[in-house]
Amino acid sequence: MSRDRQLVAGLDLGSTKTCAVIAEVVGDVPRVPLAKVLGVGLAKNAGVRRGMVRDIEETTRSIAAALRDAERMAGGRVSGVTCGIAGEHVSARTSPGVVAVSREEISAEDVARVNEVARAISLGRDQELLHDIPQEYVVDQQRGISDPVGMTGTRLEVEMYLVTVQATAAQNLRKSVQRAGYRPVDLVLEPLAASYAVLTDDEKELGVALVEVGGGSTGVAIFHEGKIRHLASIKFAGAHVTNDLVQGLSVTQADAERLKERHGVAYQPLVDAAEMINLPSTPSQGARQASRELLSHIIHQRVDEIFQLVQREFERAGYGGGRLPAGVVLTGGTAHLPGMVELARDAFAVPVRAGSPEQGISGLVDSVQAPRYAVPVGLVLYAARKLAQGAAVGGSLVRTPGVDRLFAPLKRWLQDFF
Ligand SMILES: Nc1ncnc2c1ncn2[C@@H]1O[C@H](COP(=O)(O)OP(=O)(O)OP(=O)(O)O)[C@@H](O)[C@H]1O
Ligand SMILES: [Mg+2]
Repeated sequence: MSRDRQLVAGLDLGSTKTCAVIAEVVGDVPRVPLAKVLGVGLAKNAGVRRGMVRDIEETTRSIAAALRDAERMAGGRVSGVTCGIAGEHVSARTSPGVVAVSREEISAEDVARVNEVARAISLGRDQELLHDIPQEYVVDQQRGISDPVGMTGTRLEVEMYLVTVQATAAQNLRKSVQRAGYRPVDLVLEPLAASYAVLTDDEKELGVALVEVGGGSTGVAIFHEGKIRHLASIKFAGAHVTNDLVQGLSVTQADAERLKERHGVAYQPLVDAAEMINLPSTPSQGARQASRELLSHIIHQRVDEIFQLVQREFERAGYGGGRLPAGVVLTGGTAHLPGMVELARDAFAVPVRAGSPEQGISGLVDSVQAPRYAVPVGLVLYAARKLAQGAAVGGSLVRTPGVDRLFAPLKRWLQDFF
C-alpha cells in the first residue's frame, strides 16, 4: 500500500514514554515539503532517563510497540527513523573557520572548505558531532552573510555552531532502534526538532526561547536573528513535580501523577482557596482531603524553581532582562498543566505561549496538535525536508569525496534549518 508513498518516521524517546509519528512527504517538493501525518504511536518506557538509554531491552520493546501502532494507523511500514536525543551529555559551542578564497568569486567548494575547517576541532574520544550549523559567514570583514556563494572576496570566514553528544549515549540509542528492527537514519537534538514544529521564522528572527518541559529534563533553545544561539538542558521537569506531590501529600507515585493531571494547576493565584479535593488514602490514613490550593502551591514552587534555572540560562546567553522580544514558547508534556503560561509570564517577564505543532503539517493534524508532540512532529518535519532535498540533489544523502558539488546544496538547507 505504501509503494508510491514516501514515508518518514520520527521517534521521541523520553523518560516517560516513546512516541512515534509517521508521515508522508507531500507538498511542493523539494522547496516546501509538507508532512502529512498518517500515524501516531505511544508506548510507556522506563528504559530511558534524561536522554540516556539505561535499559536497552525495555527501550527496544517500547520502540517496537510505538512504531508498530503508528504503522498500523498509517497503513504502511517504515524502515528508517529519525530519532530525538537530549540530556545533560549534550554540549554546544561556536567554532570559527577561515580560508583564502581560491578564485575571484566564492564557490561552493570554498564554502565547503571553510565549513570543514570550522568543523575540524578535536572532539573528546567520547564525543560525537551531532549538528554543525553555520551561524554566519564573513567575507573580507563584511559580517552577517548567510550564503556567500557568488560573492567577490579574498578571505572567507564562518562562525559554526557545533553540537556534540556523548558517543555512548548516541550508540545505545541507535542500538535500541536497530534491535527493534528499524534503521536509525539521523539523530536530532530534541529542542531543535521541537523548534521546527512550533516556532515561526519571525519569532526566530526577533529572539525567542523554546522551553521543552518534559518528564525528566527541561530543554532550552534560544534563537535570534534566525539562528540558534544557545542550548541547555536542566535536569528537573515533570517527574520532580510528581515527586514533590508524593512527599507533600503522602500519596503514591501513581496517585500523585493522577492528581497532578486531573487537578494540578501550576499558577497558584488561579485556584479557588475554598476548593477541596479528595486524596487517595490507605486504611489507616482514613478518608483525607486537601485544598486544591495546597496541590497547586507544591506544583507552583517546583515549576517556578525550574523557570529560575531556565532564566539563568537566558542570562548566561546574554538574553536576560527581557531581551527576548518574541518571548518564550513552552512545549513538552508538562506544558499541559494549566497555569504554566501564566507562571512563565511572571518568571520571565516576556510574552509566553504554549507551542503546539501547526506549521508544515497536514493529515491527522488533530492527533498531534498539543505541546507534547512538538518533538516527534519536529522530527518528521526534519526527515521530510531532508528527504525532499536529498531527492533534489540526485538522492545523494551520503557524503563521499568528490561530491561536494552535490553535497553543498544539501548542506545549505541544513544551515537554514535552525
Ligand atoms: N495533562 C497533563 N497535566 C500535567 N502534567 C502532564 C500532563 N500530561 C503529561 N504531563 C507530564 O509531562 C511529563 C512527561 O512529559 P513528556 O512526555 O514531554 O516527557 P518525556 O519526553 O517522556 O521525558 P523527557 O523528554 O524529559 O526525557 C510527565 O511528568 C507528566 O506527568
Ligand atoms: Mg521528551
